[in-house]
Amino acid sequence: MARPYDDAPRLPEAERLDVRELVHGDWLEIEIGPGRGWFLVERAEAEPRAGLVGLEIRRKWAAIVDARLGARGYAARARVFAEDVRFALPRLGPNGSVRRVFVHFPDPWWKKRHAKRLVVRDGFFDQIARLLEPGGEIFVQTDVEERAAAYEQLADLHDAFTPAGDAPGSPRLAENPYVARSPRERRAIADGLPVHRVRWRRK
Ligand SMILES: C[S@@+](CC[C@H](N)C(=O)[O-])C[C@H]1O[C@@H](n2cnc3c(N)ncnc32)[C@H](O)[C@@H]1O
Repeated sequence: MARPYDDAPRLPEAERLDVRELVHGDWLEIEIGPGRGWFLVERAEAEPRAGLVGLEIRRKWAAIVDARLGARGYAARARVFAEDVRFALPRLGPNGSVRRVFVHFPDPWWKKRHAKRLVVRDGFFDQIARLLEPGGEIFVQTDVEERAAAYEQLADLHDAFTPAGDAPGSPRLAENPYVARSPRERRAIADGLPVHRVRWRRK
């Protein structure tokens, strides 16, 4: 029997994929783990020139958000694929083809035995460094300060990135400058929780 959302959109099967063939846009942006997806919808509305690709491990949300983007007329330039980013990112290319990567509230796992599930980890920054164009941005936000600090340590180890926050030399941003907000971000703001935002630019 077919499982629900078995028909969720997947990336083409090829081992190497050209991200420019997935969506059209003057430049490309990737969101990792869009979940319920409102950031992508709002970003598509706010920035009509951007091509947007979401990679979401949960088939249900990939299918619902991809259909929602299509229903709003954005299918040619905004898609969500049901993929595990740990396997999908290494397949994407060419190098230096992506302008922005967004990661909103990733990694809600705390137990040591779940460490292998973490999305933002060392190998992740290698893939982002490879995919971003010179001057391209990686923007991460979380409601957990320790996580933001851990992301800073990881990025500091990497000489491909330069901090791109509010103050010179710091990756910390007080606000989200991308007009669109993720569902978790919206909820954190409504609940009065702090949101920790960090951004780096590809050298
Ligand atoms: C805490 S939720 C945040 C959702 C959304 N970004 C937001 O801010 O509202 C984390 C999201 O990342 C997705 N995710 C977790 N691991 C993933 C992976 N390896 N590949 C793709 N998506 C993943 C989850 O399914 C979930 O939608």
